[in-house]
Amino acid sequence: MTQRIQLCESAELINGALAVPFGVMQGARVCAAFAIRFEGQVYAYLNRCAHIPMEMDYLPNHFFDSSGQWLMCATHGATYQPQSGACRSGPCRGGLTKIETSELNGVVYWHTAANLQPLES
Ligand code: FES
Repeated sequence: MTQRIQLCESAELINGALAVPFGVMQGARVCAAFAIRFEGQVYAYLNRCAHIPMEMDYLPNHFFDSSGQWLMCATHGATYQPQSGACRSGPCRGGLTKIETSELNGVVYWHTAANLQPLES
């Protein structure tokens, strides 16, 4: 069953600006994830490039390129669509792993899935 997990306050996510990081369990692995806001909507993905499975932000929480229109991996410059995580250019194949989100009364939530669970506390 899907659970909603509190991620951050809505005000912490500004269009095309810094991401808010969070952690998830993917199977037995702890994975870094991030949430961003783009054109008013919140999106979240695992922080794992589709080129080589490594974290994408060289400077913490910087995922947008200088145009503020695309998510970019700092290692080899692959770019992704903020709305879908699909590869746009560069060496990526496929796209980012999307995490469903919702926003209610000034709070952003991420949604668990079969292979995405909260961190064990
Ligand atoms: S690791 Fe991200 S573009 Fe190569």
